[in-house]
Order: sequence, then C-alpha cells, then structure tokens
Amino acid sequence: MRLESVDALLAALQRGANAHDGEAVDLLDHMLQCGALLAAAEPDDFELQVAGLVHDLGTVLDPNGPATHATTGADAVESLLGARVAALVAGHDQAKRYLVSTDPAYSAQLSEMSVATLALQGGTMREAERTQFEAGEYSTSLVALRRADDAAKIPGLTVPGLDDWRPKLERVADTPT
Ligand SMILES: [Fe+2]
Repeated sequence: MRLESVDALLAALQRGANAHDGEAVDLLDHMLQCGALLAAAEPDDFELQVAGLVHDLGTVLDPNGPATHATTGADAVESLLGARVAALVAGHDQAKRYLVSTDPAYSAQLSEMSVATLALQGGTMREAERTQFEAGEYSTSLVALRRADDAAKIPGLTVPGLDDWRPKLERVADTPT
C-alpha cells in the first residue's frame, strides 16, 4: 500500500490509536513520542523526526507482520517522503540488531516485546554485518531513531499531537530526497 498524500498518511497514522503491539502505549502514542524525542534531539533534521513519527506504520498497516513491518512501512511512505525517510524506516529493526550486538546496556533496557521480535528480525549481528551497518550512509541517523524508538514507550507522556506534525510532513513531502 502506497500513501500518496499527507492526508492519507495522517489517516493511516490515526489508525494506530488504540492499536497495540504488546507495548505499554498504543502505536500512535508510541510514534508521536518517538517523533517528539527526535524533534528535541535533532531540531533541524525534519526527515529524521518524520521517520520517527512514521517508523512503525507498517505495524498499523499489517499487524501480523513483525518481521516485515519495517519494509512495509518504508514502501508505504517512500514516494511521499523520499528515499532517506524510507531508508530510516526500513532499517530501524536492523539498528536494533546492531545495538544489541554492540552495546550490552542497550540490550538490558529493551522491552519484553522488542526482545521477543529480535529473533524474528534476524537476532544479533555477526561482525561482517556490523561492519556493513556502520559503513551505511544512514547508520548514525538509524541509531538515533532506534534509541528514540526504545524510549518512546512511556504511558501518559504528553507530546504534540498528529495535527501538529502536518507542517513538517508537508515540508518533507515537498522536498523528497
Ligand atoms: Fe517502534
């Protein structure tokens, strides 16, 4: 499924409200929190922020595909939001594999559901895979997105709502990479 307009994207994201994938917050709140954390950390990088906002869209579109949710989401937004946003969405599960393989403290704070889906997503990375990940064009942004992803599971946290994202989404949609 391809989302061809900001309106269609916002409607799809809205479907994440009250949809759960085993985490403490619903999918919409999770993605809003992820985008807000990245907006605070990287205020000038709208593409990274928007990637955070849409990163689990694949789970909204296909709740039964944890192993493919990253690519499902990337395919849905690529024509609208451009190649970099799509690559960040596509790679966020691989960034988990990378961090699990390189940062013991990271593994210790993963949610139960993230640990459960890790094996489905390929498990830990071998050295050659880690080297390949680090050499990737978007590795720094992928790690930033992944760390925000894991932090964005706080019940009751107040963050900007979906409507507040429209200007940034339209800006990124107007200037796809
Ligand atoms: Fe996520």
